[in-house]
Amino acid sequence: MFIGGYVSAAGLGLTCPDWPLCPSGIFPNEKYLIEWTHRAVAATTGALIIATAVSCWFTKNSNKYLKLTGTLGAVFVVTQITLGALVIDLKLHALLVAIHLGIGILLFAMVLLTTLFAFRLGKATIQANI
Ligand code: HEM
Repeated sequence: MFIGGYVSAAGLGLTCPDWPLCPSGIFPNEKYLIEWTHRAVAATTGALIIATAVSCWFTKNSNKYLKLTGTLGAVFVVTQITLGALVIDLKLHALLVAIHLGIGILLFAMVLLTTLFAFRLGKATIQANI
């Protein structure tokens, strides 16, 4: 979200006009560095959030809150990455950029809630074992 804010504020949104890769391919070059970094961090974040959602379903002590926020996080991250492609394709249409920011906030909220629920679960398990 921090890098996205910088991309937007610095007017760098269309420096990398292709999707999913920049014209330099899988590696960055100076021209596309900031936008490339936004996408690389988004891809890593996406993989980690999807892995978290899968473990919310398969961890033995998981509960319905963890499953709900973990799954919503995965749904929002996939939506956000798809929306990122549309933002580029439609040349930074204001409505899409605003929705991209809104989904980013919802995504952050789900990741934070998942973390809080996981810590609460961890604490309860430790107390039950004392
Ligand atoms: C986890 C995934 C992502 C998150 C959390 C995220 C978050 C953000 C945020 C918070 C902004 C600033 C919006 C604003 O200030 O109004 C932004 C801007 C932007 N994002 Fe993302 N983003 C993600 C993925 C992507 C992807 C995959 C792409 C494209 C391939 C993309 C393309 C853009 C572009 C072009 C802007 C600049 C818009 C402008 O110039 O106004 N984002 N992003």
